[in-house]
Amino acid sequence: MSRVFSGIQPTGNLHLGNYLGAIRKWVTMQDAHECIYCVVDLHAITVAQDPATLRNGIREMAAALIASGIDPDRAILFQQSQVRAHAEIAWVLMCTARVGWLNRMTQFKEKSGKDREGASVGLYTYPVLQAADILAYRATHVPVGDDQKQHLELARDIAAKFNTDMGIDVFPLPEPVIEGPATRVMSLRDGSAKMSKSDPSDAARINMTDDADAIAQKIKRARTDADALPSEPAGLAGRPEAANLVGIMAALSDRSIADVLRDHGGQGFGQFKPALADVMVAALAPINARFAVLRRDSAAIDAILAKGAARASAIAEPVLADVHRAVGFTG
Ligand code: TYM
Repeated sequence: MSRVFSGIQPTGNLHLGNYLGAIRKWVTMQDAHECIYCVVDLHAITVAQDPATLRNGIREMAAALIASGIDPDRAILFQQSQVRAHAEIAWVLMCTARVGWLNRMTQFKEKSGKDREGASVGLYTYPVLQAADILAYRATHVPVGDDQKQHLELARDIAAKFNTDMGIDVFPLPEPVIEGPATRVMSLRDGSAKMSKSDPSDAARINMTDDADAIAQKIKRARTDADALPSEPAGLAGRPEAANLVGIMAALSDRSIADVLRDHGGQGFGQFKPALADVMVAALAPINARFAVLRRDSAAIDAILAKGAARASAIAEPVLADVHRAVGFTG
């Protein structure tokens, strides 16, 4: 039996990187698997948050996920802080994980920047909480973008060490699912930087709430080289901006990169960019329209999240009890 778990931070808007790297896969996986999707508010407070903004961000993210196709009647959609097993298992696993393992995490180095001493302890132990999220449900598959690969390897290491230390297989080792042509969507302004909510330039990313005009403008202004598109994937080597736009086109239209190049190879960007913008607008406009309607009804969103938390707790509580027994807290 497979069980899917994944999470997203409720900070900033959902952007095209999140959508193509993770959320589209979350939606597809609902058809064939038991799926648990989490708005990770405990992770969000590892950096400073204004309470009112966070409260709003949680509801906005839940609405954006439903608008993107997550069906809360099938998948479990909930808020991390409302299921106690996450924090409680995280504490136990902090005693399993080694300082040396966390010291290797590149995301902590990136996020703490020059002021490492001033970073929160939570930012440092962030990946242990992420492991607890997954292991609290004995999830077998975790669909994420490429930037989460190291955290998922750590989650496997923590699970394996806990099982070995306690002499009992409490946790299965979760498999990362990092697949498709857009596992790492890059900035529209810089082909060497990831598309991210923290990029100061809004022109670098497509927000899921951007309208057709904004999308067309951002794609038109996206940085590219001057050459025509190649007709085969090998021709994208050393052309990060071109590779990024072709990858986005492939993911949005459910085609392979080879198929996109078969259709568009030989075209210049003056021709390819409007075609890409059209495909993007067609994919995002319905999501945008659904989001606008859903976001008006906070009470309905809150009810969905509360129901999701109850369903999630029902799965995680017995795992928490197994953890307590394995450690020796209970008999
Ligand atoms: P977060 O909130 O940064 O991103 C959510 C998902 O979007 C993916 N993603 C991207 N994929 C492709 N290209 C991009 N430019 C891009 N930017 C973001 C991320 O890989 C992620 O899948 N630590 C996680 C949240 C988390 C989690 C978990 C994930 C907490 N617990 C347990 C899986 C399992 C994070 O900050 O994602």
